Amino acid sequence: MSDSTRPRILLLGSQGQLGYELRRSLRPLGELVAAARKPEPGERAVDLTDHAGLAQLIRDVRPAVVVNAGAYTLVDQAEKEPDLAAAINAVAPGVIQATAREMGAAAVHYSTDYVFDGSGSEPRDEAAATAPLSAYGTTKRAGEEAIENAGGAYVVLRTSWVYGVHGVNFVKKILKLARDRELLRIVADQVGAPTTAGFLADSTAHILTRSAQPWSESLAAARGIYHACCGGDTSWYGFTCAIVERARRAGLPLAVKSIEPITSAEFPTPARRPLNSRLSCRRLSERFGITPPGWEAALDETLPRILKEEFGV
Ligand SMILES: NC(=O)c1ccc[n+]([C@@H]2O[C@H](COP(=O)([O-])OP(=O)(O)OC[C@H]3O[C@@H](n4cnc5c(N)ncnc54)[C@H](OP(=O)(O)O)[C@@H]3O)[C@@H](O)[C@H]2O)c1
Repeated sequence: MSDSTRPRILLLGSQGQLGYELRRSLRPLGELVAAARKPEPGERAVDLTDHAGLAQLIRDVRPAVVVNAGAYTLVDQAEKEPDLAAAINAVAPGVIQATAREMGAAAVHYSTDYVFDGSGSEPRDEAAATAPLSAYGTTKRAGEEAIENAGGAYVVLRTSWVYGVHGVNFVKKILKLARDRELLRIVADQVGAPTTAGFLADSTAHILTRSAQPWSESLAAARGIYHACCGGDTSWYGFTCAIVERARRAGLPLAVKSIEPITSAEFPTPARRPLNSRLSCRRLSERFGITPPGWEAALDETLPRILKEEFGV
């Protein structure tokens, strides 16, 4: 198919963890136009705080779908700069959705388990009441509402504990700490599902592939929020033990001798985080036929790539 007949896909935030994987997974689906704050050659520039410029970019590109992987993700720093976080996480998604709707395009957005207060111990579904504990969570929830208010055709994938081969994440931080320190003290009372950027990107591509053209109609019919994370659950402590055990088996030289579980109260951070981040992905499975991999299987697949890229192992 020539590029003139393939659907045009505008990917915003192409340099983040998820954006990087989306560049790979979306390319076979159409003509991909990637945009980033610091664009690589061949990419467009986008600043999610420049809302007029953002709307103009969408009008210029005239995509069939906008996929927004850009976000303000500095959870603790957001407590100090909530206005900047809101401009990127709350206002920009509404601008994207409203402009996409005006252009007859669909959009895919991403949100977070941090829209919940984390009470209880059951997995939450999409109808559960939101009550963010942090400025980051508050801005992401406001973004969901702005998308809902704009209407049109959209899917919001709410996910948790994202890591991937590219970008900054918990797995890389733990590997560096375990290489340098004998003792790690890790929070054990926050429970959720570590989720790979690759799974989220593949799920996005799967949703678009399964949805009939034009996406402005099929995603209007399917519009809504969907929980999308890897299967099972663990704590940050459990995740750390799994990372360290696999890294050691793979031959990464590690100084760490002991990993100690601690409570959130023993590790205070500027932003409060939910204790129960479990999300039920049943709606995603039923609507789009996606069965998430278990978090351990996803780690088995992704960790060797991180070890090779970051540590040459
Ligand atoms: N990371 C997690 O644990 C997690 C958990 C739940 C949900 N999520 C959600 O998943 C999505 C993807 O997250 P991620 O982990 O891929 O995040 P990430 O690696 O931090 O990537 C975010 C991207 O947004 C870009 N960005 C930030 N401010 C911008 C601006 N003003 N203009 C243009 N681009 C801007 C960043 O650009 P630079 O590269 O220039 O900084 C970065 O490339 C987000 O919606 C996030 O809220 C993430």
